[in-house]
Amino acid sequence: MRLGILTGGGDCPGLNAVIRAAAVHTVRTYQNQMLGFEDGWLGLLKSRVRELDLPAVKGILPRGGTILGTSRVDPFREEGGVQAVRDAFGLHELDGLLVCGGDGTLAAAARLHAEGLPIVGIPKTIDNDVPGTDCTFGFDTALEHVVRAVDALHTTAESHDRVIVLEVMGRSTGWLAVSAGIAGGADVVVAPEHPTSVHDVCTYIRHRLARGRYFSIVVVAEGATFVPDPDGKALEVQHRVDPFGRPRYGGVGELLAREIESRLRIETRTVTLGYVQRGGTPTPFDRLLGTRMGIAAVDLAVAKRFGRMVSLQGGCITSVELAVVGQGPRPVTPELYEAAKVFFG
Ligand code: F6P
Repeated sequence: MRLGILTGGGDCPGLNAVIRAAAVHTVRTYQNQMLGFEDGWLGLLKSRVRELDLPAVKGILPRGGTILGTSRVDPFREEGGVQAVRDAFGLHELDGLLVCGGDGTLAAAARLHAEGLPIVGIPKTIDNDVPGTDCTFGFDTALEHVVRAVDALHTTAESHDRVIVLEVMGRSTGWLAVSAGIAGGADVVVAPEHPTSVHDVCTYIRHRLARGRYFSIVVVAEGATFVPDPDGKALEVQHRVDPFGRPRYGGVGELLAREIESRLRIETRTVTLGYVQRGGTPTPFDRLLGTRMGIAAVDLAVAKRFGRMVSLQGGCITSVELAVVGQGPRPVTPELYEAAKVFFG
């Protein structure tokens, strides 16, 4: 049997753990061959491929990013893309393809499987928003970066009696913002699933001022939106669109900081954490989850259980229909948000 693997969408820590585990399990356990396609779907479209034998995956476990490279290219948006993917299966004599991605990459994978191609999905993203799994690898490492930032910002904000607004990634979900808010002890968290008003954010900060706490840390998710203030006006956040038609987030933190400063007359600064969140060496949790998912994906392919996505449920690795990604991003659970809210203001 000859298998292939690709990594698509935004990179995240733990991808190399998946690649290593999938290659080693394929070669050692099953005496099969594994091909690595470079730069996501582009590797199939442009025949950018290399064999992933044991030496090829040596030493990659602790490395962030993906040794295969990645892109946001979608075969369904490319002229003749779907036929080119189909042809690549024939050209490289592929019996199965492991597709490691977030919602965009996995949505394309699900559609290709529906068209008859033998595909297994592996969910990844720092955003933690893929439906059908309790958690994605990459999230834990990103969360650690954000919590370290919140810790560091506390000491400087407190020294200067400032408000600091930290903008974090997560697209249309607030997993990173809410989790880091709880673990870092933020004073307010603004998440897309729970739109709030600038008035309410300022009220929480006022409560702290009244208690003699002259600094505050506000964590805002990049995809957050605001409901109107009592006067009926709402803070408008507009995002650009990237070449793949997806919102390119960024800027909500600065907008919110300006509003806080002008309303409360308290010095307010913004930090946008950006790509730091996606980088660096994966945590043990992400290495472990990536490894377990890589092994499980190979087992599914060898058993010819295509059209499945590996998944973590209740601490165990299992699988779900790949089509589950059609449900759209998995929102933050109400319980998690309520836990953060206990500490607002
Ligand atoms: O989906 C992961 C993610 O890092 C999001 O949190 C962020 O909005 C987006 O990717 C950034 O994408 P790009 O790498 O295309 O700028």
